[in-house]
Amino acid sequence: MNIINEKISLISECSSEDLRIERSRLCCDIEESTLEGSAFIRTQLKGAGFVENDIRGAGFLQCDLSGASLEKCDLTGAAIVNCRLDGMTIDGVSVHEMMDFYKNNHKENKTMNKATRKAIIAGNWKMNKTRPEAKALLDELKGMVADVKSVEIVACVPFTNLETALAATEGTNIRIGAENCHFEKSGAFTGEISADMLAEMGVEYVVLGHSERRQYFAETDETVNKRTKAALAAGLKPIVCVGELLWERECNITEEVIARQIKLDFFGIEADDLKKCVIAYEPVWAIGTGKTATADQAEEVCAFIRATLAKLYGADVAEAITIQYGGSMNAANAAELVSKKNVDGGLIGGASLKAADFTTIIKAAENG
Ligand code: PGA
Repeated sequence: MNIINEKISLISECSSEDLRIERSRLCCDIEESTLEGSAFIRTQLKGAGFVENDIRGAGFLQCDLSGASLEKCDLTGAAIVNCRLDGMTIDGVSVHEMMDFYKNNHKENKTMNKATRKAIIAGNWKMNKTRPEAKALLDELKGMVADVKSVEIVACVPFTNLETALAATEGTNIRIGAENCHFEKSGAFTGEISADMLAEMGVEYVVLGHSERRQYFAETDETVNKRTKAALAAGLKPIVCVGELLWERECNITEEVIARQIKLDFFGIEADDLKKCVIAYEPVWAIGTGKTATADQAEEVCAFIRATLAKLYGADVAEAITIQYGGSMNAANAAELVSKKNVDGGLIGGASLKAADFTTIIKAAENG
């Protein structure tokens, strides 16, 4: 039934559940009616007055609702999609004002969440520095960052440097991490180091699933998952690296790759344990290449990681996790990267080997 050009000025006390009204003109008042589950599609409702109606679960699609007013209506679960809303009010409040308020509030919440997450700047020294060099670097660094409070500073160093690094940083604000650990507790695994061995030394963090381990040492998401579980069981804080290859980005499958890594690397890990983990987004094409992801690219993927975690663990858990960016982060580009809403610090390779550069990055994160 089309009600075009009919002079209906009031619909009152009707019960029209699941009604479907399409391409119609209903610029009249509707009072004390039940329109539960109804659908209004491309319908003129300009200036219409809805009073004390039950509009639960109703849908308004591509309607002109400008100047319409809804008073004392039950709108639970109602959806308004692609409609004109100028001058529309709900219980006397402008819908545009409500939307602005929501948007601003939402923005503030996001900022608050970033503020409540502690930024972590971790150096990944890779296969660099002898023990005397490690001591000299940390001695220089600790003086430069002694006043830093709001950023967690971590140096992930080769196994041979762990003892030296722990001694050099004792009583300072620099935490020490390893660059890998094995998933078995002990046994016939020549050349490997277990999570328990690291924990016993006083090591706090461990980098896992770094792309160099995946690329050169045949590590898979399955072994990263096992290592992450072993590290958590030993009381270490894993920094789990994920990131796409250049050709994967070029094939436009970055999100699929990252979602797969997140799902597999954290498979079977409960929310309470996940909260102890740090995730480092490291696009493989940006590591050691001098090619940094733009701040927007970094933000886009870090936000995607958070959204993926929100689906798996809920928004509260996702908001609590520190997500770093890594890949040619340096003293010049750090400030812009860490200013992004979902980038909570960085995993730094080359630039962590120079105390002054690393300090600049840490100070950028303090202000980020
Ligand atoms: P890069 O390394 O900063 O030298 O690119 C980062 C990393 O491998 O973690």
